[in-house]
Amino acid sequence: MGVRVAIVGATGIVGEKILAVLDERNFPVEKLFLFATGAGKTHEYFKGEKIPVNPIDKTKIPETDIAFFSAGTEIPKIYSKDFVKNGAVVIDNSPAFREDEAIPLIVPEINPEQIKKAKGIIANPNCSTIIMLLPLYPVYLRWGIKKIIASTYQSVSGAGREALLDLDKKRNPPYFFPFEIDKNIIPHIGKPLESGFSSEERKMRIETQKILSDKTIKVSATCARLPVRFGHCISVTLKLKHNFNIDDIRGEIESFTGVVVYDKPDCGKYPYPLFIEDKDEVYVGRIRIDPVFKNGLSMWIAGDNIRKGAATNAVQIAELLL
Ligand SMILES: NC(=O)c1ccc[n+]([C@@H]2O[C@H](COP(=O)([O-])OP(=O)(O)OC[C@H]3O[C@@H](n4cnc5c(N)ncnc54)[C@H](OP(=O)(O)O)[C@@H]3O)[C@@H](O)[C@H]2O)c1
Repeated sequence: MGVRVAIVGATGIVGEKILAVLDERNFPVEKLFLFATGAGKTHEYFKGEKIPVNPIDKTKIPETDIAFFSAGTEIPKIYSKDFVKNGAVVIDNSPAFREDEAIPLIVPEINPEQIKKAKGIIANPNCSTIIMLLPLYPVYLRWGIKKIIASTYQSVSGAGREALLDLDKKRNPPYFFPFEIDKNIIPHIGKPLESGFSSEERKMRIETQKILSDKTIKVSATCARLPVRFGHCISVTLKLKHNFNIDDIRGEIESFTGVVVYDKPDCGKYPYPLFIEDKDEVYVGRIRIDPVFKNGLSMWIAGDNIRKGAATNAVQIAELLL
């Protein structure tokens, strides 16, 4: 049976990748409706066919089965209910609904059962959280995790097309970032919070607890933006509940769906942004015992923020709905 699909934000970095992933995975698209501001691109291509891109009009919301939203936080708040009313399940990439207890937040390899709770809207988690949790989940299942200390090294594409232009055009003064991003590191992502953390760092804590349905797990994140185009890397140190053998850790991570252990530092084998760019899998290297904690474990995780961190995860959620 064919599926009527809408993409709101179809011309963005994530929206265009959703189109590519739907095509690659042979998602049974019967009809495609694409939306953006109307001021930018007027069409996109899907399977060689030219598809018009239109501005959204509340009075002309089409009847669809699945509507992907990747157009910032405000647009889904305004329009997602209209799509639901007209038959769609909305899969939203933004933070708009992620903390709403009534709305499932899904990583298909981790909590697919949450799909049953969906009443029209499903939230796609934050990119760094998805990438971090994929390899941590098999460790969590077998040994338990008490604490996560994470430092992210996030690419510029994670902030959208305008941000990427700051880097590509070496814009100075920059348009999107507070400082020039080329040859620089900005040790702050999202809004500053009273706690001293940023909104991005808060997302990694709150969303980890929601996805794992575990409010006891402690997460401390520091998020930084680097002059890298695609791919987020995360240095993670964990305190596990139980002692472990490092080979067993490797084995559990290796056999988990969607994760690749790529770990031979003596011959330069570890994942980095240019290596993982445009790959769906999350890669892990530098797996080692950490001496700071009892049952301490450290690793280096890398994944493509536009693929598994956004588009691929969203399309996998749509596949669960099928
Ligand atoms: N980039 C990532 O790594 C990543 C990862 C996870 C989640 N996300 C989330 O995904 C969403 C999109 O991110 P992105 O990186 O793809 O951003 P982007 O490249 O800046 O694209 C934004 C898209 O939203 C559209 N848009 C903006 N205002 C609109 C409006 N009023 N009506 C209709 N469409 C509108 C834009 O259309 P025009 O082209 O016409 O301007 C464009 O298609 C964001 O909510 C972001 O938080 C991004």
